Amino acid sequence: MAFLAAALSRIKPSPTIAVTDKARALKAAGRDIIGLGAGEPDFDTPDNIKRAAIKAIEEGRAAKYTAVDGIAELKQAVCRKFERENGLKYKPSQVSVGAGGKQVLYNALMATLNPGDEVVIPAPYWVSYPDIVLLAGATPVAVETRLEDGFKMSPDMLEKAITKNTKWLIFNSPSNPTGAAYSRAEVKALTDVLLRHPHVWVLSDDMYEHLVYDDFKFYTPAQIQPELYERTLTLNGVSKAYCMTGWRIGYAAGPEMLIKAMATLQSQSTTNPNAAAQWAAVEALNGPQDFIAKHNTVFKERRDLCVSMLNQANGLVCPKPEGAFYVYPSCAGTMGKTSPAGKLLKTDEDFVTELLDAEGVAVVQGTAFGVGPAFRVSYATATTALEEACRRIQRFCGNLK
Ligand SMILES: Cc1ncc(COP(=O)(O)O)c(C=O)c1O
Repeated sequence: MAFLAAALSRIKPSPTIAVTDKARALKAAGRDIIGLGAGEPDFDTPDNIKRAAIKAIEEGRAAKYTAVDGIAELKQAVCRKFERENGLKYKPSQVSVGAGGKQVLYNALMATLNPGDEVVIPAPYWVSYPDIVLLAGATPVAVETRLEDGFKMSPDMLEKAITKNTKWLIFNSPSNPTGAAYSRAEVKALTDVLLRHPHVWVLSDDMYEHLVYDDFKFYTPAQIQPELYERTLTLNGVSKAYCMTGWRIGYAAGPEMLIKAMATLQSQSTTNPNAAAQWAAVEALNGPQDFIAKHNTVFKERRDLCVSMLNQANGLVCPKPEGAFYVYPSCAGTMGKTSPAGKLLKTDEDFVTELLDAEGVAVVQGTAFGVGPAFRVSYATATTALEEACRRIQRFCGNLK
């Protein structure tokens, strides 16, 4: 009998982490590598947030276990955040805090899915969604969106994907990996579909809520359609907007019954998230927010730079997304060509492998996110490095035969 669990054979290591690790190893070996694979801001955590953690440590508030799914102060800060920014009223007993948005998502899916259950996931998707669903023994149902539609799912596509077995829709706007974000009217049209299917719950992953450009206004489903409140889990975290990916704090709010089940699961796995990081997150949510707009000015410039330069590369088409810090160009126009090293490009994985070898630029292949041939560029990196990377991508595409 095999030693490893059968469930493990259903999932794969995160391809984005794999690319980042490969780029890091090549760099350590002395290669000139520009990594555009990682999904994290290049900015440091703001000082007031760091100081809140240091103070908590010095005052002895970080040495002991805390409540499993978050200290009261953080749950209150999360409730205030949802009311202030999203017009959503939650009680602390409706809030769950975990070690990053990923753990909170994992808890929610593990606590609710059974074999036979289906989860509707618009594609391209964040790589963890289908794999966690598979680990839980349930079935991911990918709904493939198109570049021509700005990578957004239409109400009709959602309607067609729902069956009697659908348990969740995972909704992610702005999206990792495309940066696509749904307007108020677009969210409303999707929630109208969900009203017709009372057995379907919504997991709204709002992790990139604050990273939107050009006056785009963010809306989350429960805010637009209060009738969905009782079957919505609204997920968010401090990782991206507050430059705190390493601190590992994410949170969600939803019906108490679900929140309790998630706490039970967490009590038998990791217990509470890091105590000092929880105090840092309290400061992140309650403290000054002005640095977010400053960062967004830089992110917008970088997005525009990438879109413009990548559209000038032979064989690439790069749409201009509303948010996050990713662009998702199609490389369909390069398929069938040959790289400088003589390799025929048959897939987007060939494209990214040859690009890394020839030009030292690390990006992630689109098929990892469910839609290719394309690749994801994270522009959360220094503008000069980004410009150089885009130049190298242009050169690589120009040298294809
Ligand atoms: C769409 C999306 N949701 C959730 C997360 C999880 O973030 P974290 O676990 O770092 O808080 C990420 C991170 O990449 C993401 O891209």
